[in-house]
Amino acid sequence: MSKVSRTVIVAITLSLFLAACAAVTQQKALAARAADTGEFHNLQIFPQNLTHDELIANMRGFAKALGTRCDHCHAANPPGSKEQFDFASDAKPEKNTARAMLRMVHAVDFDYLAKVNPHGQMVTCNTCHRGHTVPDTTAPAESAAPAPPGL
Ligand code: HEC
Ligand code: HEC
Repeated sequence: MSKVSRTVIVAITLSLFLAACAAVTQQKALAARAADTGEFHNLQIFPQNLTHDELIANMRGFAKALGTRCDHCHAANPPGSKEQFDFASDAKPEKNTARAMLRMVHAVDFDYLAKVNPHGQMVTCNTCHRGHTVPDTTAPAESAAPAPPGL
């Protein structure tokens, strides 16, 4: 996937998430719609009225940012089942870790960055993960920023 489309996915993820957080009251009014379709059964962070496409765009963004596939967070159904994954299940601890990460990102963006972001940037999963499940915390090599001449 090109760099541009990856950026778009991250942007989708972020804007949906932010919209989700801002629209709690609207969420309640629209919850009936999700109840009607009954598509998702265990959303604790995302709004209940998230469409299928919106949810999948977010999930692809997670997988991309962490360099994994869906199975990193979602438990598999027994072999021979109609569906490969039990997406609503919380059996895999990584899924709850991801929920904690979503709460953390929300706090960073709203409680801190929104007040001081002259560049208009917000934190996303990719800010830290950049294709790894455990972020790489090694500092860049010293030679990456050569000292100015004469120093
Ligand atoms: C980094 C972890 C992570 C990855 C990777 C991930 N998901 Fe999820 N997924 C979650 C979390 C967390 C939730 C629950 C969100 C909430 O509580 O609002 C969720 C919820 C879902 C749901 C809704 C289930 C329900 O009924 O409540 C579906 C469907 C889903 N994911 C599909 C996918 C697919 C398809 C992929 C691969 C493209 C994927 N996920 C990759 C963490 C992940
Ligand atoms: C501020 C940096 C930061 C951001 C932003 C961030 N994470 Fe993390 N995440 C971490 C760190 C650090 C760890 C490793 C913690 C540890 O030592 O186990 C981690 C671990 C995880 C793990 C467990 C990985 C594993 O296999 O053990 C998941 C899942 C995860 N993050 C999902 C997410 C998702 C989804 C987002 C975006 C909503 C996100 N993270 C945003 C820093 C971050």
